Order: sequence, then structure tokens, then C-alpha cells
Amino acid sequence: MILSKWLATLLSGALAVQGALAIDLNIDDENSLKTAAKTVATEMMKFYDERDSKDVPGKMDGTWWEGGSMFMTLILYWFVTGDTQFTAAVQEGMYWQKGDDNFFPSNYSQYLGNDDQVFWGLAAITAAELNYPELDGEPSWASLAQGVFNTQYPRWDTSSCHGGMRWQIWPYQDGYLTKNAISNGGLFQLSARLALYTGNKTYAEWAERIWDWSATTPLLKQKNWNIADTTTCGTQCTDHGDFQWTYNYATYISGAAYMHNYTNGTETKWKEGVEGLIKTSQQFYPASGNGQILSDITCEPLGNCDRNQITFKAYFSNWLGMLTTIVPGTYDLIFPQLKTSAQAAAKQCSGGTSGSLCGIRWTKQAEWDKSSGLEQQMAVLGVLAANLIPFKNQAPYSLESGGTSKSNPNAGTNTSDNAIPVLNTIGTGDKAGAGVLTVIFVTGWAVAVTWMIRGG
Ligand SMILES: *[C@@H]1O[C@H](CO)[C@@H](O)[C@H](O)[C@H]1NC(C)=O
Ligand SMILES: *[C@@H]1O[C@H](CO)[C@@H](O)[C@H](O)[C@H]1NC(C)=O
Ligand SMILES: *[C@@H]1O[C@H](CO)[C@@H](O)[C@H](O)[C@H]1NC(C)=O
Ligand SMILES: *[C@@H]1O[C@H](CO)[C@@H](O)[C@H](O)[C@H]1NC(C)=O
Ligand SMILES: *[C@@H]1O[C@H](CO)[C@@H](O)[C@H](O)[C@H]1NC(C)=O
Repeated sequence: MILSKWLATLLSGALAVQGALAIDLNIDDENSLKTAAKTVATEMMKFYDERDSKDVPGKMDGTWWEGGSMFMTLILYWFVTGDTQFTAAVQEGMYWQKGDDNFFPSNYSQYLGNDDQVFWGLAAITAAELNYPELDGEPSWASLAQGVFNTQYPRWDTSSCHGGMRWQIWPYQDGYLTKNAISNGGLFQLSARLALYTGNKTYAEWAERIWDWSATTPLLKQKNWNIADTTTCGTQCTDHGDFQWTYNYATYISGAAYMHNYTNGTETKWKEGVEGLIKTSQQFYPASGNGQILSDITCEPLGNCDRNQITFKAYFSNWLGMLTTIVPGTYDLIFPQLKTSAQAAAKQCSGGTSGSLCGIRWTKQAEWDKSSGLEQQMAVLGVLAANLIPFKNQAPYSLESGGTSKSNPNAGTNTSDNAIPVLNTIGTGDKAGAGVLTVIFVTGWAVAVTWMIRGG
């Protein structure tokens, strides 16, 4: 069912006469950016509305985590454009998937990774920081982010590597013996943002703990500011799966930026981290785009990005764009290339019968790469919304500076979620619903290990 629908989408995209339209964009004009973003968001939400699992708000076909990351992208979109047309859908999906106020809903929790869950927490803290509308009778956005923090930090694992978050949560999962950059960088970023939003130093202590621990492993090499994707418990976190991904860099950069601001710039390590990692992120602006167009270089040139990887540029753009409001002096390091990336991305949006479906290889410039989907739309929406941040020119709110979302440091703790679940027999449909990252992990890991052995 899922596959056939996917094929149908692919075919209809490929067969359609490519509209010569693309999206008209004047990068220096706020209204032009807003119009372009609205077109791309509207196409994205068509995919969302037409999904097979549309009876379950917030749940996408074959993936759970992407719901959180899509809402995160739409929350920023609302903030920078004022367009409220998707707000009801975002609220409905966010609240539906909230579980025991910790985004760990029992339908999927047996098969989730820490990274899957943390993306929903990052969506919630984004909503809190931007004063996204809340509904009466529902938990506050800030408390939902705190619920994710409260569920995750007890999973800090000192049984190997002297610390760190494992990738997957339960011992029967394939990624249980792995510690990866996005799970650790994700909780690092969430903790740093909670510290700045609430002013509570417990979150800052966790952020610092995760950063410092990461720096003892290949996940964050301070010597050359390289971020490995994975390392494993069996080697005490000395081996490294070296695939380079935009979102791994961006999550650590963003967390360091929040910590810089939280500490009032008194600790040089955070600014050094921001600047060092921005420098090594230059690898994501390859020669194929004259060093000016964002690309997930590990998969795009090979044309084999999976649906997860297609979305990464949205997070990179959003997180780097937003940090320019809290770390003075970073605009010139970040926005020149986000501008040229948005211009290239808009030119990718000339696909399908509507003439505004986007591809993923922005470096291909004037020619639609003939791929399309919700993920492609999300990536382009991310970079367009990021380019509206300087027009909005508003730093994330904190409780001290006008944030209205209420803190509840005990959120998400009234739950039995942290008990290891007894596995019931599940159908392949359910498995596909939550285990996408795991499947990718198995093949990705095999490739990485082969690569390491050959390279080593
Ligand atoms: C859990 O699954 C049931 C049955 O399919 C569905 O009705 C419900 O909406 C799902 N809940 C969540 C949070 O996805
Ligand atoms: C940062 O400065 C503010 C205002 O001077 C102060 O209230 C706050 O405690 C400082 N934060 C830290 C972490 O030192
Ligand atoms: C923190 O962010 C605010 C904007 O909210 C900015 O005015 C301030 O300069 C930043 N502080 C530091 C130390 O960069
Ligand atoms: C700060 O956060 C910690 C951890 O959640 C909590 O135990 C503590 O009560 C919070 N302090 C305040 C003043 O909210
Ligand atoms: C904890 O959860 C249970 C079951 O959902 C509920 O009955 C109870 O009121 C909750 N307790 C608190 C303190 O929120």
C-alpha cells in the first residue's frame, strides 16, 4: 500500500511535463520570500493531507519522527510569515502525539530512538520560544519540551564510554549499541534551549555535560571540529562512522549558540564551538554549487538520499538562521550562503503538474531533479523561512523576555514509559511505522564499517 502510493507519486512526478515556472523569488524582498514559502508549504501540506494514515494526526506514513520535524518547520514558517492557515493542523498533530506529555506515545515507543523523540521536543521548544498559539486544556509547549528532557536524561548511559545517549532506546533494537551524533546533539540542543528559555541552570549543566562528553569521542572532535555520525559502545566510543550530515553539525552549532547566550558570552568555549563548526560546515557547500549552495554531500551527488536525509537541510537552515539573533556577529558567516541556497532551491521548484513541486539537488540549479515529495518541500520551506528571520529580527523569547509558554519542570514524569516494554507481536505495517531509522541504520552501519575497515 505504502509502496504503491509512493511509486504512483514518483511516476506522476516523472511523467508530468515539467512546468517552466519554477518559483519566482527575489531574495531581498520580504513579500517575495513569503509568497514563495507559502507556495512550497501549501504543496507540502497536500502530501500531508493525502497520506494513508491521515486519520492519525501527526503520524506520517512509514515514519513517526518526521511529523515532529515537519511541525517544527511549520512553526518557524508561521513566526516569520504570520500565515495561520496550518496552525490548527500543527496543534492537532502535536497534541495527538504528546503521549504522557513527553512525545513518547505507546503506539510507537517500543521502536523509537532517542533522536526520533528529541525532534518532537525540539518542535515544542521552538513553539515555546516563538509564542506559538496554545490551546486551553492542553499542556504548554515549554512543558512538552521539558517532558522530553525529563524522559531522556535518565537514559544517560555510563555503562560504556563513561556516558552518552544511545541511539536506540531498548536492548532489542539494532542501534542500542551505538551512540550517535544526532541523539546526543539533539538532547544537547534541547537542554541548552531550555536553559535559555527557563533560566534554570539544571538544563545548562546537562547541556555542558553532553557537549563535554561528546568531545571525548569522535562525535565532536574539537581539534579539527569534525563530527562523526556514530560510534559504538563495544569500542568504548573510539571507532567512528564518518558519514557527514548537515543536521549533525547544525544541532551542535545551535546548542552552542544558546549556551553562548545563556552564559552571557562569559565562556569562550561556546563561541569557539559555534565558529569552529560553522567553518567545517563549509564542506556542505561543495564546488558543484560554486561553494554557495547547501548540499548533503554524503548522498546528493550519488542520488541516493533516503527520505530522512532529504529533510536535513531544513534543520540546518532553520537552526543556523535563528542563531544569528542570539550570537552577534554570525550573520555574515551564515546568511550569504543561505541566500544563494534559497535562490537555488526555489529554482528546483518547477516540478509536477502544478509546476511548483521541488527537487532536492539544489546544486543542479535551473533544472528540476525530477524527485518530489513532502520531504523535498520541507527542505525548501526550511531555507526560505530561514531567509525571513533577518526581516523578523526577533530573538527567541524566554520567560524573562516575554515568553508566555509556562514552565513545568516535572512534566512527563508521571508515566511508566521508562520501563522496558514487553514486546507484543506486531505486524510489519506497525514495524514500518516506527523503525525506519533502524532499517537504515543496519545497512548504513554495514557500509560505514566496510568503509572504515578499508580506509583504516
Ligand atoms: C494509536 O493507534 C490507534 C489505533 O490505530 C489510533 O486510533 C490512535 O490515534 C494512535 N495514537 C497515536 C498517538 O498515534
Ligand atoms: C547573564 O546576565 C544576566 C543579566 O545581567 C543575569 O541575570 C544572569 O544571571 C547572567 N547569566 C549567567 C548564566 O551568568
Ligand atoms: C543574547 O541574545 C540577545 C537577543 O535576545 C542579544 O541582544 C544579546 O547580545 C545576546 N548575548 C550575547 C552574549 O551574545
Ligand atoms: C529546574 O529544573 C530541575 C530539573 O527538572 C527541577 O528539578 C527544578 O525544580 C527546577 N528549578 C526551578 C526553580 O524550576
Ligand atoms: C498520573 O497519571 C495517572 C494516569 O494517567 C492519573 O490518574 C494521575 O492523576 C496522574 N497524576 C498526576 C500527579 O498528574
